[in-house]
Formats: sequence, C-alpha cells, structure tokens
Amino acid sequence: MEQTNSKGQWGSRFGFLMAIIGSAVGLGNMWGFSYKMGSNGGFAFLLIYVILFITVGVAMTITEMTLGRKTGKGVIQAYGELGKQYSFIGWLGWLSPFFILAFYTVLGGYTIKYVIANLGDIFGASWGIGSTDSGEFFGAFTSNQLESTVYTWIFALACILVVVMGVSKGIERVSTIAMPALFVMLLIVIARAVTLPGAGEGLEFMFKPNFEVFRGSGWISVLASAGGQLFFSLSLAMGIMVTYGSYMRKDDDIQGNSIIIPLADTIVAIMAGMATMPALFAAGLDPGQGPGMLFITLQVVFQSMGVAGGVFGTIFYLLVFIAAWTSCISVYEACGSAVIDKLMENGKVEGTRTKAFCIIGALSLIEATLVSLDGLGANGFPQLFGQETLLDVFDLFSEGIMMPLGALLTAIVFGWIKNDWLDDEIERDGRKFWMKGFWNICIKVIAPLMMFLVLIGQINNFFGLKWF
Ligand code: PHE
Repeated sequence: MEQTNSKGQWGSRFGFLMAIIGSAVGLGNMWGFSYKMGSNGGFAFLLIYVILFITVGVAMTITEMTLGRKTGKGVIQAYGELGKQYSFIGWLGWLSPFFILAFYTVLGGYTIKYVIANLGDIFGASWGIGSTDSGEFFGAFTSNQLESTVYTWIFALACILVVVMGVSKGIERVSTIAMPALFVMLLIVIARAVTLPGAGEGLEFMFKPNFEVFRGSGWISVLASAGGQLFFSLSLAMGIMVTYGSYMRKDDDIQGNSIIIPLADTIVAIMAGMATMPALFAAGLDPGQGPGMLFITLQVVFQSMGVAGGVFGTIFYLLVFIAAWTSCISVYEACGSAVIDKLMENGKVEGTRTKAFCIIGALSLIEATLVSLDGLGANGFPQLFGQETLLDVFDLFSEGIMMPLGALLTAIVFGWIKNDWLDDEIERDGRKFWMKGFWNICIKVIAPLMMFLVLIGQINNFFGLKWF
C-alpha cells in the first residue's frame, strides 16, 4: 500500500471510521446530548439537531477531512498551506483542543472512579457507593484534591500511552476493539432502561412531536444549543477532523465517510438518550438537570436497583469511560500532530512522535491538575471571567469562543474565498464531487449563519445575559 504520510496512516477504512467515530462519540453524546435535550424541550431539540447534522454537520466534516488529507498536515500547518494569512485559524483549531484537554481529562478521571465505585457495589465493598447519597458521594470525591488528581493523571496517561504508540498501532488498534464493545454495552443498558416501569414517559419526551418552543423566541436558544452540541459532538473546529483526515488513504471515499461519521455519531447520541431518559423518568427525576446528570442523577437510578444496579452501573460507566477515552485520544493527537510537524521541519522523523507527546503530555497535565484541584469550584479558587469553576473557564474559551469562531471562519474561507480548493482532493478516489451543489449551499449560507448564532448563543449562556 502506498504510504502517503510519513507521520502515519490508517491501516483500513474500518479502522479509520472506528477511530474518528471514537473521537466523535464521547461525553458529548453520553451526557451533553441528553441533558441539553432535557432542558430544551425534548423532541424540538432532536428535530433541530437532525436538520443541523444533515446540513452543517456533513458539509463541515467533508471540508475539514479533505483539508487534512490534501495537506497531510496537522491543523496549524494545514491552514497555513491555504496562505500565511489563514494560519491563525489553524491556531484557533489548535488552542481549542489544547484547552479541552484541561477538563476532559478530569472528567475522564471521574468516569474511572465511577467504574470502580460501582464495581465495589457489586461486592458490597467499602469503596463502593453503598447507600451514601449520590450527590454527597460526588461532592466528597470532587473536593478530594489528591484523589481526583490521581484519577485525572491515570486517565491522561492512558490516552498519552495510546498516541505514543502511533496512528495505526495505537489509536486504530484501540478503537477497533473499544468502539464495537461500547456499542454492545450501550444496547445492554438500553434494554434495561426501556423495560423499567414508567420508562415510556422518557421515550415520549424524546420522540413525541412537540412544538411548544417554536412559539416564542426560545427556539433561538434551542438552535444555538443544538448547534454548539453538534460541533462539539462531531469534534469539528477542533483540529481533529483535519488531523485524522491527514492520515487517510488516498483511495478512501471522502464523501461517503462524511455521511457515515455524523450519522453514526447522531445514532449513538440518540441511543444514549434512550439509555438515560427512560431511566430518569422511571425514577421520577428531572431530565433537564444539567451536567450533574451523569454522575449524580443517574447514579441515583443505579442505586435504586440494588445489586443489579452495581452491575448496570459498572457497564454504564465503563462505556462512558471508553467514549471519553477514544475522544480524549483524538484531542491529544490533534495537539501533538501539529507539534510533530514543527519538529519535523529539519527533516528528522525518528523519535518526533514521542518527543511531541512528552511536551504536550506535560503541558496538559499542568492545566488538568489545576482543574482537578479546583474540584468543580469546591475548593475556593478565585472565579475568573465570571465563571463558577475553572472547568467553565477553559470551556468558555474552547467550546464557547474559539470553536464557533474557527468554524465560522472555515466556512467563510471555503465557501467564498477558496471554493474550489478542495475539489481535486475530493475527486481523487475517482468519484465525482456529486455533493458539490448541496455542499455549496451549506458552506456558503447555512453554516456561517448557524455558527454566528452559536457564537452569540454561547456568549449569552456563559455570561447569563438572557438575550433570548
Ligand atoms: N466529540 C466528543 C464528544 O462528544 C468530544 C470532543 C470534543 C472530542 C472535542 C474531541 C474534541 O464528547
């Protein structure tokens, strides 16, 4: 097989798809999607989300993936190849995942803690949750600085280890085993959730047409929330699609992939909703509870099931761990890949990967340690930029500002300035760029409009401005 990228290459199309879907399917699906749907009117959110994924999701995926494959570079240098004046978009796409590492690793550490705690409950062990109030358990853990920092480090090192092993030997190998396993576990949890007495209400909340929110201006905030969720969930404007695209084989079907990836991600998000919503409704809990849902509310559901709760809890948090792990791996790869490019400038390839990840690994551990020490605001750290927790500060800059801004600029550049730049690469596998007409409408008009709304919506939410 033609080795096209000296930095690495996917071994097979399936391997690439598992890796990129592994990146897309993460805490955003298992947690963000459900609770945002919960607080944004259920069905209405789902409907808007699906429309957005068909228009914006597919078009942005194809754009970023092709930019990566055409240049064969990490995100900073890939945008740089469009012209010097565009490299700052690459920098946005690099800084954004770098800031995400600060808190994603901390949350990943929490998932490990919960796997262990639920495992403990199966055996009635003292390190289980037992009958402790789930909110108290979570609070005690997050404010225990030493313990939560240790878990953060374990999680981060588990990611760094995989990326150091390489694109095909590390990331691809882990993803091809982990993603199918995740899928099976999800099916098991869904089977349990939908058969709980009273679960029907949860399904109704998700799937029964309800257009309540379209009456006032509330739909703008639903739209902004769904748009933000879509980008985060698809790992767009994070340098990831570009980076993973750069390791793609030249004969791979870019257009086909750009449909499969968002579709698979959306299906898993809906499935995650089906695993959580019915359980929450069955237990009489509030679905729009915010981020605490994953570690507090759902744990209440498991606790109410007795010993079986330990079993389902373990499976559930293990699947959340896998989702977070394969996502965080991609965040590391996106940051590291650009550093590898830099290190390779003098022509040396040997050892650059390890060196790049020693640098990124060390930097990420510093920022992550700060976030874990903050303990979701429990430990009296000063509040910055009007945010309650340090996690929110990093999230504000990455997901709140740089991500929508980077996406907006990307759409404008490829829609209006470099409209033909990607065509030859898309057609390189011998298929015509049959989507071009549709892609044009999405990239020129719908995506910029959406990203603008998302940007405003995020600023509105982060600063509690109540504009709409
Ligand atoms: N897409 C992942 C999710 O849904 C998270 C993620 C965001 C991964 C950004 C990489 C970059 O959780």
